[in-house]
Amino acid sequence: MDKTFAFTVNGQARTVTTDPERPLLQVLREELQLTGSKYGCGEGQCHACTVLINGKSTPSCITPVRNADGQSIQTIEGLAQGERLHPVQEAFLAEGAFQCGYCTPGMILGVVELLAQTPKPTDTEIRSRLQGHLCRCCNYPKLIKAIHRAAGQTQGANAGPQSITNPTAEGRVSKVEGRRAALASLASRPPALASGNLRAGT
Ligand code: FES
Ligand code: FES
Repeated sequence: MDKTFAFTVNGQARTVTTDPERPLLQVLREELQLTGSKYGCGEGQCHACTVLINGKSTPSCITPVRNADGQSIQTIEGLAQGERLHPVQEAFLAEGAFQCGYCTPGMILGVVELLAQTPKPTDTEIRSRLQGHLCRCCNYPKLIKAIHRAAGQTQGANAGPQSITNPTAEGRVSKVEGRRAALASLASRPPALASGNLRAGT
């Protein structure tokens, strides 16, 4: 029997009436049109569907919506502040840490949790975290660089996310703009191919 659940999604109060056992991922995508979280394995193995519940990364494909009742959920759509990307998103852009982008929303939210718990993770800690996130494009070396960048651990004092907007770093800026354009073009593809997943997607 359907029940009504109330929770906060990206800071907004939402109410959904549905089967309590329905996966949270389905509710987010189909009832709330938050399609940034992706369906991969459906078994809690790939973490493409990761969202943060009360700050904890959670595979939403195996989380019944009843478990989210009264909780605070964050999806990739809620990470940027207006036009300003989250530092982890900026770091992924700067390092080109995605190819098809399917794993990217879950990966970014997993990294947000990692950096909240461990602001300066070692390579080993990063690799251990990434073991839970499957990237079919095997983009792991760039992912590791992006995570170090997001943590402010990259080479040089100006290598943090903010350096990509440094007007003196023209080459880097144009590279990043190229990637932004690539993401925008991916987002406009038909649903089956779309993977503009840095912020949201289909
Ligand atoms: S789709 Fe949820 S863990 Fe794979
Ligand atoms: S970038 Fe394609 S699955 Fe990770």
